[in-house]
Amino acid sequence: MMRNTLLWASTNPLLAERLPKYDFVKRATKRFMPGETLDDALREAERLGKSDLSTIVTLLGENLAAEDEADAVVDHYLGALETIEERGLPSEVSVKLTQLGLDFGTERTEERVRRLASATSSLLWIDMENSDCVDATLDVFRKVRETNENVGVCLQSYLHRTQRDLEALMPLEPSIRLVKGAYNKPPDVAYARKGDVDQNFVRLTKTLLRARLDGGQGRPVFATHDPRMIGEANRLAYEMGLKKDRYEFAMLYGIERDKQLSLARAGHSVRVLVSYGSAWFPWYMRRLAERPANVWFVVKQLVR
Ligand code: FDA
Repeated sequence: MMRNTLLWASTNPLLAERLPKYDFVKRATKRFMPGETLDDALREAERLGKSDLSTIVTLLGENLAAEDEADAVVDHYLGALETIEERGLPSEVSVKLTQLGLDFGTERTEERVRRLASATSSLLWIDMENSDCVDATLDVFRKVRETNENVGVCLQSYLHRTQRDLEALMPLEPSIRLVKGAYNKPPDVAYARKGDVDQNFVRLTKTLLRARLDGGQGRPVFATHDPRMIGEANRLAYEMGLKKDRYEFAMLYGIERDKQLSLARAGHSVRVLVSYGSAWFPWYMRRLAERPANVWFVVKQLVR
């Protein structure tokens, strides 16, 4: 009930316009993002890098009102990629295709992603958004992957279709970031029970690790804070004889910090996703929905 309400709030334009104006709401975001500017994110990326945590940075913002806003987003990311390279930071970039114009058509979105991938020697990640966007997102990913090897895509274990999608992508030897999924889950396309989402996550983990072992796989990244999912990935990799440096973990900034550090100290490759930007409301609501106990954190800010 709470989760659904928070996910509903994440798509409500009126709340997105009003709530961020309140200081207590702004203060409460500090736990999940270091600040609104690229500089804030990169400063944190530098600090995390000193603890052997690499980063993925992403500018918050989703569906656009007009297509030309997408070109401003591309310009922003081109600048970000240049700064990351200049400062030698261990950071990659992840983009949302709706922020690059997906609602206005795939062809120009594809060109924008290609421009970004061509501007970096690191991997450029593509987020996975609502279930309505999956076909178009995978279509753009496939086309860009034909010309640029350094592009990876996120897949969500809460969708029934994901195992089929992964198998269809395999010939491309893709880099895949596996997540459970953060959006509203229409029952006809997604598993309703957490146990089924988790079971599918483990099944997909096995497919990714097996492919990595056989040499036909880009980077498999398990983006989860769930100790059971992390434990299963490690167990499966160990049983297959796959070394720690052949797969990665990723977590969100501010969540399970100790776990991030302990995995890195144990020799695992760990990336922290650092979000920044002023359009944080929908994204913040999704973070609260993932763990409704976080709402108490906001309430504490209110009474402070
Ligand atoms: P689960 O939700 O079962 O949580 C396991 C445990 O982790 C919880 O018990 C709690 O301890 C901790 N935890 C999880 N979320 C928390 C929170 N918000 N606050 C505090 N504690 C929390 N989704 C998507 O649909 N598209 C995408 O492109 C991405 N990209 C992405 C990148 C990276 C690097 C990460 C880590 C995650 C994403 N996600 C995403 C979000 C993802 O789908 C998922 O919603 C969150 O990772 C939470 O799910 P867990 O796997 O952690 O498991």
